[in-house]
Amino acid sequence: MKICVVGKGGREHALIRSLRESESALEVFCFPGSEAIYEIEGAGKVDAHDLESLISWMTANAIDLCVAGEESYLVTEAGLANRCADVGIPCWGPPFAGAQMEASKEFAKEFMLRHSIPTGAAAGCATADEARAAIAGEYPTVLKFDGLAAGKGVAVCPDEASAEEFLKEVMEERRFGAGRLLVEECLVGPEISIFAAVSGPEYLILTPARDYKRIGEGDVGPNTGGMGAVASRQLADPELMARIEKEIVAPTVAGLEKDELNYKGFLYFGLMLTADGPKIIEYNCRFGDPECQAVMPLVSGDLAKFCLEGAKGNLLPELLTFNEGWSVCCILASAGYPDSSRAGDVISGLEDVSDARIYHAGTKKQDGQWATNGGRVLAIVAGAETREEAVEKAHAEAAKVTFDGSQRRADIGRLHF
Ligand code: AMP
Ligand code: GLY
Repeated sequence: MKICVVGKGGREHALIRSLRESESALEVFCFPGSEAIYEIEGAGKVDAHDLESLISWMTANAIDLCVAGEESYLVTEAGLANRCADVGIPCWGPPFAGAQMEASKEFAKEFMLRHSIPTGAAAGCATADEARAAIAGEYPTVLKFDGLAAGKGVAVCPDEASAEEFLKEVMEERRFGAGRLLVEECLVGPEISIFAAVSGPEYLILTPARDYKRIGEGDVGPNTGGMGAVASRQLADPELMARIEKEIVAPTVAGLEKDELNYKGFLYFGLMLTADGPKIIEYNCRFGDPECQAVMPLVSGDLAKFCLEGAKGNLLPELLTFNEGWSVCCILASAGYPDSSRAGDVISGLEDVSDARIYHAGTKKQDGQWATNGGRVLAIVAGAETREEAVEKAHAEAAKVTFDGSQRRADIGRLHF
């Protein structure tokens, strides 16, 4: 089987490693990929520069399956999955209409209300004045720009001054361009990320995870793309998982079918475990990053065939098995992250890592040595039967890898709900 994965980060590095370990994956290609991804044995480059040239290349090279890692090509009109369908290539990733679950917060909120899926109350607003009326003096409040904003479109505002600042930037200065705004009820509780493989009416819930979004230890400081993750079936007890499945996952999948969104691919549920039960904060039409790097080492079986069959409408859960233990992913970020990033710092110690997986997110080869090339640089992932063991191992292995200005949160996996 020939597979083409779309993406370039740590998540795609992890997906490609797992696909390559599948019995069915003969060859894996990646677009746009990275130098580290191309170093995986059997992983090849794609000669393309945009969606149209990617589709032509996949057709000419008789690709059997396209796997969407990142969302960028799914969320554009006539997106990746639609174009794959036009040329008869199965795609693991939803068509444009289904990808709106991530791309438009108002679309997702209306979907949740239509299908009675628990979420915070919200109002869609066209202007700053409408937003002020919707906030109605109640703080804290959550403001969400209804469009793509590179992860910067959400503000949890404790008071009027912070809300006014966000409204000015987003609705008056139009920092993210034109678009509506959602005023949402502020939910309180621990967060958990749930991932399902969805193929039409069927789904399989994968190992749940928790990510650590803030730069600083103890969850302080600005939000980042994710400074680490912990994954385990034990993260949520069976009773909680059953409730999440019944109240959130099953009605979402039934809603996707009812609305004829033809969803095939990974679906990410960002949940808040509130005192009133689990509620949805957001959907993403892809796997999480860095949660994928934590989850993939816990999954074995034929992931390649699982995705191919799922993309064709046959969900075959028997192709995968899940390790019952724990996996901890530590991110090493470069100097200045998340405000900026630094390229060109030489990385040492990678060859000393003996008991963990290394996934590259932002690296490049410089005079034959790996160097930083982005904000999040590497993910070091270790597993064990208990959380404590996995935490110790992941941090001990991550500490072997060094570069100038390296940032790593030492509390990843330690801070538990
Ligand atoms: P998002 O960009 O939708 O992933 O949101 C980023 C972060 O904002 C989430 O991980 C939450 O920590 C926080 N957040 C989003 N929506 C809410 C909400 N309704 N109540 C409280 N916090 C929220
Ligand atoms: N880890 C959060 C995300 O992938 O969006």
